Amino acid sequence: MQPRWRAIISVALVVVSATAASMERQQQSAAIASAHPLATDAGRAVLDRGGNAFDAAVATAAALAVVEPYSSGLGGGGFFLLHRAADAHQVMVDARETAPAAVSEGLYLDGEGRPLRNATTVGGKAAAIPGLPAGLVHVATRYGSLPLTVLLAPAIRLAREGFPVDARYARIAKLREAYLRAGVNTTVFLDSGNAPAPGFILRQPELAATFERIARDGAEAFYRGPVAESLVETVNGAGGVWRAADLEGYRVLEREPIRFEYRGARITSAALPSAGGIALAQALGMLERFAIETPRSAHSAHLVIEALRRVFHDRARYLADPGFVRVPVTTLLSREYSARRASEIDRARASVSDTLADAPRAESHNTTHLSVVDSAGNRVAATLTINLLFGSGLVAPGTGVLINNEMDDFSLRDDVPNAFRLRGGAANRIEPGKRPLSSMTPTFVEDERGVLILGSPGGSRIVSQVLLAVLDYVHTPVVDLERIVAAPRYHHQFWPDRVEIEPQGFAAEWRADLSGRGHRIQSAARAWGNMQAVYKAHRSGVAQAASDPRGKGVAWY
Ligand code: DON
Repeated sequence: MQPRWRAIISVALVVVSATAASMERQQQSAAIASAHPLATDAGRAVLDRGGNAFDAAVATAAALAVVEPYSSGLGGGGFFLLHRAADAHQVMVDARETAPAAVSEGLYLDGEGRPLRNATTVGGKAAAIPGLPAGLVHVATRYGSLPLTVLLAPAIRLAREGFPVDARYARIAKLREAYLRAGVNTTVFLDSGNAPAPGFILRQPELAATFERIARDGAEAFYRGPVAESLVETVNGAGGVWRAADLEGYRVLEREPIRFEYRGARITSAALPSAGGIALAQALGMLERFAIETPRSAHSAHLVIEALRRVFHDRARYLADPGFVRVPVTTLLSREYSARRASEIDRARASVSDTLADAPRAESHNTTHLSVVDSAGNRVAATLTINLLFGSGLVAPGTGVLINNEMDDFSLRDDVPNAFRLRGGAANRIEPGKRPLSSMTPTFVEDERGVLILGSPGGSRIVSQVLLAVLDYVHTPVVDLERIVAAPRYHHQFWPDRVEIEPQGFAAEWRADLSGRGHRIQSAARAWGNMQAVYKAHRSGVAQAASDPRGKGVAWY
């Protein structure tokens, strides 16, 4: 529900306003949810011009790259999950970053094999070869219907003319003020060297020029020529090992999504190199073996946590870029395996992560998501990122491109957790050309009622967010999108062996019940995630959208 609309709900006006709104809504068969109102507007303008969901997703993603520079952008990557209505073709466009060819683990370790501080998160070594420019162009040219010049026009205008930063931008820039002062050319995100106040007009003319080149000449304009040269020089000037050939050789990959069923709902989600879809399938495969009356009870939470514990355990052991490592996906998703894993769950007591068979001794951020459906039923769920807030802290001169720090999503050593406290084994080690394992989980859920399109940022907590949202959707007869995106979140990731909960929304009895079963509950300092969900009902064709109240996004429908 739009904030404007929420604001006008008052006791006296409920009936009148609700009627007016539902009349207005009934005409909408398309919907967009994104993390920023200006990005939602960009997508909406494209739909108004007759573009399809793929066009709208490209316009929205490009605008997000401008208005949420701390989250995603041309210097990053992501996954676009697509559904084409005409022939039900579904594909995951993998625009994940790749490790540069000259990389080696030694770059990140000292003489004794200890991790060098911040090497995977700050500066040139942290940066992987960006995928978003190739991803945008691929989605637009293969699936869209309007020219890139039209699709990128809103992003170009927002970058050139500027836009007033919102309170969220101001807060994040304040949080990262020192980082932006210390980075390479990153003061473009500040107001005369200081975090701007809300309302400050942020202009990014160099980024506008880069988008313009891409609109005119396609992805080549980014991966070759002056933009590419500036990127290589900037990254290497800050300790990196990029070569021109890394950029020239970057390719988007089309991958079969992960598909499975949960209690009759057909779910389509991200394939490797994201762990998200496999994690979702494994967790729901285990949970299907238990009676779940209400997904939010303490007993259900216990089962969800135990499922998550096992899913993240397997993630650490097996999951990685399938181009480099043989991942036993079929086994992990098999009924036999999920029955075995589910049988290890004690209905009354928490397991201890360290005692799970074969436990690997060793095994504030940002990202963005957008969901779109158009009147024809084409759908896009896209989760896009530069990894941590403001990425590696490098902006290549003349390009406006802020470069990612996605190298931190690799696992450097069994006992060294990454920024999301994820531990991983040998499968996800750094190798030249490899794509780091991701948690991003763009997902479709379809049942007899309609189709839900969703995703969220949050690093490792993405998986539990999407899992909880799927459970809330499947186990609640009436679809209440607002409730789904707002519902309180909890998370477990095998290690650390504890249940993190958001500060609000969990009753004392719920906590006591879980503690009584042996779970260590830890209340996080802040809420997390920024879920963007769209739903289209099969029978009426009516679409609606909801943006997570934790963020500043806007849902249009
Ligand atoms: O691909 C991943 O899993 C991470 N790079 C995503 C980072 C993220 O979600 C940060 N947002 N809060």
